[in-house]
Amino acid sequence: MPKVNMHTSAGDFAVRVVQWQEVHGRNTLPWQNTRDPYRVWLSEIMLQQTQVATVKDYFARFLVQCPDVASLAAASQDQVLGLWSGLGYYSRARNLHRCAQDVMQLHGGAFPRDAQTLQTLPGIGQSTAAAIASLCFSERVAILDANVKRVVTRVQGFDADVAVSANARALWAAASALLPTPQRAAADMARYTQGMMDLGAMVCTPKNPACGQCPVQPLCAATKTGDPERYPVRSRKLKRSSQALWLLWAQTHTGAVWLDRRPTPGVWAGLYCLPLFDSELALRQALSPAAQEQLQCEPAFTHVLTHKDLHLHVCRVQLAQKTVPGQGRWVSAEEWPGLGLPAPVRKLLARAD
Ligand code: ADE
Repeated sequence: MPKVNMHTSAGDFAVRVVQWQEVHGRNTLPWQNTRDPYRVWLSEIMLQQTQVATVKDYFARFLVQCPDVASLAAASQDQVLGLWSGLGYYSRARNLHRCAQDVMQLHGGAFPRDAQTLQTLPGIGQSTAAAIASLCFSERVAILDANVKRVVTRVQGFDADVAVSANARALWAAASALLPTPQRAAADMARYTQGMMDLGAMVCTPKNPACGQCPVQPLCAATKTGDPERYPVRSRKLKRSSQALWLLWAQTHTGAVWLDRRPTPGVWAGLYCLPLFDSELALRQALSPAAQEQLQCEPAFTHVLTHKDLHLHVCRVQLAQKTVPGQGRWVSAEEWPGLGLPAPVRKLLARAD
């Protein structure tokens, strides 16, 4: 069994987090000061793999087009992917859209109010469900995203390997043991949840945590060891792979580009993209001899995904008409900016030359 610090008196930890959050935490983010589950849910999904500063802009733009769950459910998948374009991890956008449709069809247009039911919806995992339920409805449930895992493992001295799934249940128990008391939950849960996120992001950082400014330092097992960075203990390293891809950038003299839809599953599933090939030879074979003559291939650049480095080779050609085989269509220079495109492809197409 992992070691867990059980000496903290019930609720003491949570009271400190709540008091600290009120004074030192983040209280003016665009998705705060509301208990609207649509806004909270949308922000939590965006924030799963994206920095706060980036999310702010996307969040505002998204709300203009889709101000509520009904309008999001009624939007087309293309519109949703277009609004998401550049945020990456597009399965989030597809699940977001499906979730809105499920909320309309299965829940009468109102988000469920408890974490257990929220978790049945597409794209809402245990921690996101807990974030929505605690922030909007004051449910007494623990969140456990990467920032909060750090706070919990350090405070509790949780030294089991968090990369081993068998330890996950114990870690949730360790997080739940720190929650506000049931008596304080109605008043404190929303601020406690935000406080845990804020502590993880602002004080209990991966490197050089600011233990001197931490409201729970007196209760923290890791700080006493003098090596808080040791937590969370993670033995298994993420295995990364790499892949080389050749992108055919075919353009007409009016600036239209040939785009096709990426299949699901796979890299950039559901997005519009320049045709992809596994080799320069395969790309060349897709073109007429005349087009091959004109083809200009550029040195590869690297685009980093979560588990994979993509080495992208771009080959450009001007074409008069459809001489590109396979699926896809010519998309005008006015239309492509509004489509859901992978970030590196958008950047390429926006290049002035
Ligand atoms: N990351 C995930 N949820 C967040 C929130 N509500 N505020 C700031 N960062 C977050």
